[in-house]
Amino acid sequence: MAARHAALPGFRDFYPDEMRRRQQIFSAWRDVAIRYGFEEYDGPPLESLDLYIEKSGPEIVGQLFNFVDKGGREVALRPEMTPTLVRMLGARIKGLPRPVRWFSTPQLFRYEKQQRGRLREHFQLNMDIIGEESVLADADLLAAALDVLRSLGLKSDDVVARYSDRRLLHQALLELGVTEENLAVAYNVFDKVDRDPREVCIERLAAIGLSAKQADDALSLTSMTPADLERRFSSNTAFAPILQDLDQYRSALGSLGFADWIQLDMKIVRGLAYYTGIVFEIFDRKGQLRAICGGGRYDNLFSALAGIDVPALGFGFGDVVLGELLKDRGLAATGGQDPDVYVIATEPGVDILRIVAFLRERGRSVLFAYRQPDRMNLGKSLKAASSANAKDALLAGDLADPIGNTQIIVKNLSTGEQRNVSLSTYIEVRV
Ligand code: HAM
Repeated sequence: MAARHAALPGFRDFYPDEMRRRQQIFSAWRDVAIRYGFEEYDGPPLESLDLYIEKSGPEIVGQLFNFVDKGGREVALRPEMTPTLVRMLGARIKGLPRPVRWFSTPQLFRYEKQQRGRLREHFQLNMDIIGEESVLADADLLAAALDVLRSLGLKSDDVVARYSDRRLLHQALLELGVTEENLAVAYNVFDKVDRDPREVCIERLAAIGLSAKQADDALSLTSMTPADLERRFSSNTAFAPILQDLDQYRSALGSLGFADWIQLDMKIVRGLAYYTGIVFEIFDRKGQLRAICGGGRYDNLFSALAGIDVPALGFGFGDVVLGELLKDRGLAATGGQDPDVYVIATEPGVDILRIVAFLRERGRSVLFAYRQPDRMNLGKSLKAASSANAKDALLAGDLADPIGNTQIIVKNLSTGEQRNVSLSTYIEVRV
């Protein structure tokens, strides 16, 4: 019976404990997005299939949950938010002051092989800046992603943002003899360089026409530091502006307080097809988990999808890997929202519902027994109040009018301390 009704593979049930942890992540996301001046938006979870074909790249297209709807339309559950954002904003951007800063927290669906940190549905914080070329926007965006982690109690020795630049990689690979049409293959080699044996990488580069020496040179890029890049490329005019941008990026992130959280890593190319400039992914330092967050510049996607030439950048920050990391580090939320008050009638027939309503109207969370006994048993009622984890038990006998003047006994359930007060005084004191 249980197995027959279990959630589908890769889909989660959120019992209250999991929901509490989900809310912890959502409130950190929302809090940071608002502190960085982003406005919230959302779109539909189901989109036309062709929104994703070509632009998202083969990896995502192979993972789509797609079907033909009853009206004969080819549709897909959204696997990522960026195409929806571009579609929505493409229709409105003309009237909007730029840069536009928007965030969203969509649930996304990808038919992936289920493994640690990868499910068939997940939530993502998406933060995107549209209509801004300056590299300061790139720095501010990464700072926001890192701030989410910092606000949840993680430190620079827990996580690292590895960044790179697609323009730099593009230029360097062209110089090494990779042709435009083979760039995607070369990017893929870089993307998998940590997973694949070196011979396999060399072989794959040889298959797109690189000599052993050229392949070796290409692979040496993957371990370069900023100083290595400077030495190797700064005299080349095609590279100079890119290196300058990267310098400014690093220095801005330093001023924003994240110098220790970032590291150049030319292996970061990002799986999605649309990135054009600085790209980044955030990982746990121990390297035990998959990427926590990823994003970058995608300056051509608006012209490809919406026919508008506008620069853009953004990231997707998933809840699954972050949730694992918080649990591993003992930072995940525990314990529920305990009620403030448990109201108990000390005599039969007392209309405690009026007290309950009085307290709830004033913002207290209040519980009471749905089954009032015919004969009062104070011990049993107090036990119920304690097992509900209420802070105070409130004992009410005779109800005088007006209700605020009603005298009650308040028992603090953690100290056992007891006092007599009016309801109005109780409300004033316990804000
Ligand atoms: P992405 O790298 O595909 O980027 O996903 C971003 C993050 O979402 C990943 O780093 C990971 O934390 C999480 N994620 C992705 N797939 C799964 C999965 N199957 N299960 C659990 N978590 C997952 C994008 O989606 C881009 N649209 C981000 C972006 C926004 N770029 C610009 N703006």
